[in-house]
Amino acid sequence: MTSPSTVNARVKAKAINMPLPRIPALLAAALLVASHAASSAPLSNGLAKTPPMGWSSWNQFGDNISEGLLVETIDAMAAKGLRDAGYVYVNLDDGWQRFKGSRKDHPLEADPTKFPHGIKWLADYAHAKGFRLGIYSGPGATTCAGYTGSEGHESEDAEMFASWGIDHLKYDSCCSHKDAPKTEVQRVVLKMSKALLAQSRPIAYHACHCGWSDIWEWAADMGVNHWRMGQDISDDFNYPGLREKYYFDVLDMLDRGAKLAKYAGPGHWNDFDMLIVGLKGKSGQLVGTGASDVEYRTHFSLWAMVESPLLIGADIRTLDADSLETLTNQEVIAINQDAAGNAAEKVSENGDLQVWAKEMADGSVVVALLNRGAATADMTVSPRRDLTVPWDKYRVRDLWKHKDLGPYDIPFTTEVMSHEARILRLYPLEVKS
Ligand code: GAL
Repeated sequence: MTSPSTVNARVKAKAINMPLPRIPALLAAALLVASHAASSAPLSNGLAKTPPMGWSSWNQFGDNISEGLLVETIDAMAAKGLRDAGYVYVNLDDGWQRFKGSRKDHPLEADPTKFPHGIKWLADYAHAKGFRLGIYSGPGATTCAGYTGSEGHESEDAEMFASWGIDHLKYDSCCSHKDAPKTEVQRVVLKMSKALLAQSRPIAYHACHCGWSDIWEWAADMGVNHWRMGQDISDDFNYPGLREKYYFDVLDMLDRGAKLAKYAGPGHWNDFDMLIVGLKGKSGQLVGTGASDVEYRTHFSLWAMVESPLLIGADIRTLDADSLETLTNQEVIAINQDAAGNAAEKVSENGDLQVWAKEMADGSVVVALLNRGAATADMTVSPRRDLTVPWDKYRVRDLWKHKDLGPYDIPFTTEVMSHEARILRLYPLEVKS
């Protein structure tokens, strides 16, 4: 069924035909990292064959986290069907640590007031309920929120995390290494990767560097399972300009990742940042006054299509019905968790109207008809023109209406509301080359 000329095959062909990078004049430190790439096989922990799914504490709570919150979140995720929908990682972000200030002056320990039973107890609790526990640190003396980091203690910390039963590490260099040269960022990312790989416990590895230093070009070979490809998300669909010259709204993030599809694949993913679905302007941490249910649905669908990790950022305990319905759409989750791991690319654009597409392992193609404009518009997708597949007849499955349409032997046209993305899965019925 699958034609070599389909959408993601074209992306990969582009990657293969890319000219080899010029060899720049490297500094001594650069040579060290480059020699790793040249002489060693790529590092791999064998994890995250599909993008990690779960919850992270940062977007809603910032560093205002505690054992009680985590236990309630785990219980609520199980009770509301989120674990069974695939959301198994429960990730502590910054703020679990006991001390603020430099690692030179303080050890890295869990805050005994916030986490009276310690992190191992919490990991045991998560595991008993069918979840995995994630934790946060960074390569600096301090983290972004000013807590003690891992600098100079990488192996010791990796060992400590493994002994606690940690399953995922977000290792955040955004602040401590913001202005560091790429080779230095590579050095610290690699150092923690090797420390994690030395543990007998498999630990998924997120190298968070805010999309700087072209991290998508080199992180996968260093054993990184996902890397942020942009700065922090804000709770906005389309805030005018770059909020505070830093925050990316949903459309900014999408644009930032538009050319990165070729870097994603099983085990290594572009991370478009944690989800804002359900925050509704009530985040204690993020800027932004929230988005509509339609916009949150568009955001979720597109994150699924670009193969971003799906890490919920809202308070699960108070999640409203619309947000829960959005987050548990199995047909949309299946796009993200597809075995082929093809990330969507933009295949056509006409002003505010964009068509994004990705090929699934079974040869079907998922299409997002995205209307970024202010008015409802008719949008069309033509398999032959936009997806370059030799299909003469096809059927269409609407993944939000859960409805089959067709068969069609002409381009498919439908109305798309302002800020909506219609998510359609197209299956070939008759193929002529
Ligand atoms: C930022 C990062 C956020 C969050 C925060 C914690 O650098 O982008 O996602 O982890 O640090 O302080």
